[in-house]
Amino acid sequence: MTPAELKALVRTIPDFPKAGIQFRDITTLIGHGPGFAATIEWLAREISGAEAIAGMEARGFIFGAAVAARLELPFIPIRKPGKLPCRVIGVDYELEYGVDRLEMDPQSIAQGQAVAIVDDLLATGGTAAAATELLRNAGGLVTRAAFVIDLPELGGREKLAERSVDVSALMN
Ligand code: PRP
Ligand code: ADE
Repeated sequence: MTPAELKALVRTIPDFPKAGIQFRDITTLIGHGPGFAATIEWLAREISGAEAIAGMEARGFIFGAAVAARLELPFIPIRKPGKLPCRVIGVDYELEYGVDRLEMDPQSIAQGQAVAIVDDLLATGGTAAAATELLRNAGGLVTRAAFVIDLPELGGREKLAERSVDVSALMN
């Protein structure tokens, strides 16, 4: 499937979760088998060479875990607060419509392991920047992140470039 055909599978819902937000909903993309598979293939090609894949709860789990399994790589879940049963490291961050916190198991990464970030959408880059900080604090090497959707007007790509993370995205 072409990127244009995949883009047509993403629906836009106005004013969710707040007035003024154009919510890009991937439910319809992952609900289309060939579309989901083609998206995973694209993401897997973009981050080839990584030694592990990290994905952020919740939508990042859908794509990140599928890419990790496709490439037979470890998957590192980066979670919302209070979900992991082990000792965690955490970081607070802002996103397009609020504030949140991410946590991870610092032992889920080998020192110096090349970890690629996968998520559904890049907006302000706050989530991916927080994930980068966490993964680096745990000893990971983070230089690449792949997204299904980039909202370029929100500056996420630039925020990650400032942190030496290269971004690729399947669609705007
Ligand atoms: C969404 C999306 C990204 C993030 C992008 O997640 O899945 O992770 O926002 O925004 P940013 O670039 O401005 O940080 P959300 O926090 O809504 O959580 P969800 O995956 O649980 O829906
Ligand atoms: N996460 C942050 N901004 C978003 C948007 N506009 N649509 C879907 N998910 C998002």
